Amino acid sequence: MTPMKPKVLTENEIKEMLTKVTEEEIIEYKKHTLTHLKDTILASGTPGGATVKDTEGNEYLDCTSQAWTLNVGFVNPDVIYATQFQAERLTHVRYSYPTVPRIKLINKLAQIAPGNLKKVTIQNQGGSTAVEAAMKLSFLNKPEASVFITTWMAYHGATLATITASNWMPSPLIRFRGFGQEHFVKVPYPYCFRCRSNQDPKDCDLECLELLRNTIVYGTNAPVAGVIIEPMQGPGGQVPAPKRYIEGFRKVCDEEKVFMIWDEAQTAFGRVGKMFAAEIYNVVPDMMVLTKALGGGLPIGATLAREDLTSFTYTEEHSTFGASPLIMAAALINIEIIQRLNLPRRAEKLGGHITKRLEEIQQKNNHIGDIRGPGLFIGVEIVKDQKTKEPANSLADAIVREGLKRNVIFDLSMAHHRDMRFVRNVVKIKPPLTITLDQANRAVDVFEESLNTALKNLKVL
Ligand SMILES: Cc1ncc(COP(=O)(O)O)c(C=O)c1O
Repeated sequence: MTPMKPKVLTENEIKEMLTKVTEEEIIEYKKHTLTHLKDTILASGTPGGATVKDTEGNEYLDCTSQAWTLNVGFVNPDVIYATQFQAERLTHVRYSYPTVPRIKLINKLAQIAPGNLKKVTIQNQGGSTAVEAAMKLSFLNKPEASVFITTWMAYHGATLATITASNWMPSPLIRFRGFGQEHFVKVPYPYCFRCRSNQDPKDCDLECLELLRNTIVYGTNAPVAGVIIEPMQGPGGQVPAPKRYIEGFRKVCDEEKVFMIWDEAQTAFGRVGKMFAAEIYNVVPDMMVLTKALGGGLPIGATLAREDLTSFTYTEEHSTFGASPLIMAAALINIEIIQRLNLPRRAEKLGGHITKRLEEIQQKNNHIGDIRGPGLFIGVEIVKDQKTKEPANSLADAIVREGLKRNVIFDLSMAHHRDMRFVRNVVKIKPPLTITLDQANRAVDVFEESLNTALKNLKVL
């Protein structure tokens, strides 16, 4: 196949337009952009790797995988080949048409899905609309119900419904309210580092689970359709729910006849050391939301559901651009790469290595409160003191800034704190699963250096 050539513009014109930007253009765009953007202008990633260059040629080790998405690395050569190949054949079809990549991707997802999650709907918008598809499917299959239970500090997206399903508004992060307040009731997430009942996670009586059941039974003004939960909370603090909680959660959903809707936006496709977090818990939800690392860097969302549930009509779940053969091709090849390179195992090994090194640093440093995983789903909770566990927001923020000065991109996640709202003191280390051992060591070295420098420079933690 010889690559297509442009007919109206020249190759050079197109390349120039896509790679060169002037100071004037930057000043101009800042006047027009309606959303606030970072200053660094990213330009090109290392094929299949964990590093990315900006327009000035600076190279960064990316411990965020660009929103925990690039599990197979930047511009993965197989994904790129698949999209180029597909792009020259067919880029767009209406949502009601099957295409070869769409058929194969539906089959692939049904094949790798846990348990009986054999029904699949895919659209290429992302996680929020995939969560909403699960909500719609719940209404379709339980028409008498109108309420969803979600958890404190949950994040399920930024559409008007998923903002409400999440627990971040109003706050400095989201300054307005979403739609449908009456459709959501929130229960505590099992965040054992700061247990709200002051119990020891090893032998607690799972009060939070009892609260979930009581909320379903007594805590709403209308029947509950489902409970939406991240099995390991991502934006809300990098918190894996304890196994006992999730097992009990499944039981509560069965007994109260509500759908267990599992948001694996951040955990699926190898990040936690297994293809899905469900494999770690050995629990199968009734519906599962997938996005982020599913597309190998291209936008996609999928909702999986129990095979006995009633399916959608065309009009109930669709969008104009929801069936892109280009993106389905990318996702299909992306999953194949994850399987062939056994990236879940790689995440388990390298994540274990990073975690062990962080634990060594924790022994010498009073400001590392908790280190959470598993795999390359790592969060380091920064505190003023290991005993008081008081969150050290400024210190966490400074670690991220110092990291960037050393060309390593970290980011922050929230933590829940009894007395403070919207604490951001969890440093996330979630690089592409293709990161090398040397790069993993560099990430830890830079984390330690950044922590020490920040401690020297800061007056208030
Ligand atoms: C757990 C979780 N659910 C849902 C979403 C929403 O996905 P999207 O931003 O693609 O709409 C996100 C995004 O960060 C997420 O982390």
